[in-house]
Amino acid sequence: MTALTAKPCEAISGTARAPGDKSISHRALMLGGLACGESAIHGLLEGEDVLRTAAAMRALGAEVERREDGTWRARGRGLGGLVEPDAVLDLGNSGTGARLLLGLLASHPLTATMTGDASLRARPMGRVIAPLEAMGGRFATRQGQRLPLSVEGCERPLPIRYRLPVASAQVKSAILLAGLSAPGETRVIEPQATRDHTEIMLRSFGAAVRVETAEDDGAREIVLTGQPEIAGREIRVPSDPSSAAFATVAALLLPGSEIRLTGVCLNPHRTGLYDTLREMGADIAFENRRDDGGESVADLLVRASALNGIEVPAERAPSMIDEYPVLAVAAAAAQGTTVMRGLGELRVKESDRLATMARGLAACGLDVEEGADSLTVRGCGGRPPGGNNRPVETHLDHRIAMSFLVLGCAAERPVTVDDSAAIETSFPDFAGFMNRLGARMAHAGDTPEGGR
Ligand code: S3P
Repeated sequence: MTALTAKPCEAISGTARAPGDKSISHRALMLGGLACGESAIHGLLEGEDVLRTAAAMRALGAEVERREDGTWRARGRGLGGLVEPDAVLDLGNSGTGARLLLGLLASHPLTATMTGDASLRARPMGRVIAPLEAMGGRFATRQGQRLPLSVEGCERPLPIRYRLPVASAQVKSAILLAGLSAPGETRVIEPQATRDHTEIMLRSFGAAVRVETAEDDGAREIVLTGQPEIAGREIRVPSDPSSAAFATVAALLLPGSEIRLTGVCLNPHRTGLYDTLREMGADIAFENRRDDGGESVADLLVRASALNGIEVPAERAPSMIDEYPVLAVAAAAAQGTTVMRGLGELRVKESDRLATMARGLAACGLDVEEGADSLTVRGCGGRPPGGNNRPVETHLDHRIAMSFLVLGCAAERPVTVDDSAAIETSFPDFAGFMNRLGARMAHAGDTPEGGR
């Protein structure tokens, strides 16, 4: 385990680009590896999660390689053309990689076994197994339907109409990816809208995807026409709003800060954190808004702001599901109380994020209350106390680690996280990125870089 410490710092400043969007990167590799012909992917996130997906697509017969100029090239097998892997597919820490890939495996005539690290092996897979079985895939699983598991896919999956029991873009995407090989229309009804990167990218590869209103209750119904011709293309991956969130919160909390984060994906189903921070009083401007390959992109100008606690509505959860840990850090420095509700899904992320955040914040001297699916943070209205003598436990969870390091930047005392290795899954060189803006993060024994 590699501990990492963030020391309190003063204002941060500068212009930077956070790494490529993780959700879009996974999808680019999967669709690039499935389409006919070649795809060029610019700005791919080269984090461990995405590299696992690249390796899995290679194991399934696609050609996937990184060019010297940093562009990735994928030569696909054509729909239905993935081949049986000759070894276990190890998706590491990545729930998105694992669940989306199960959609592809279940809709190809092959048998495959999938596993992951201790965090991923503890996460529920039943949510994708149920619809994929209805489409014709067969699964052999351990108790609790967790990894490792084996899947026997089918050549001609059945199109289904499926209502998501949980708001999950991963489940929706697994069904749509399997539906590519099904004849007729595959329909997914989502009572709460979730990120639509799969739909956007499917369209750009040439598939017909439309959104209707479900007759039963007016919910969003996504309709994919199966067996499309999908051809390789060029993809530019925007910067990840979930990664940009860490520098954003640090800049807001450190008086005198001003940073610009360029090329951030502002897909409307991903902007819940930014809406919430603005409601708390944050000065965040979206500049140079543009459309890139169907995704909305902008540069973020963030200036230090005094934040006030608020009630975050439960309906907002899907649009900021990965950002609650760092929002809780913002809430810790805000004036007044912040109540976050509708957080049940946080319990099945890379760690039980509700419990991990509540315990970590309490260890850093904050007044927090953990409910069954809510978190209440009573803010300090200034610098929170910060670390005690023990490192914060991160439980293989990259976003927990990065959130507590942001807390360390803005606290009275340094904060140490017990293990920073998981940060590599989504944000390679996070400490270097933050230090170049003026943060002071270092491993024990290192001299902190940056820290102007
Ligand atoms: C993701 C969907 C979300 C999110 C995850 C990425 C995706 O998960 O938490 O980090 O790329 O589809 P759920 O589908 O489990 O909500």
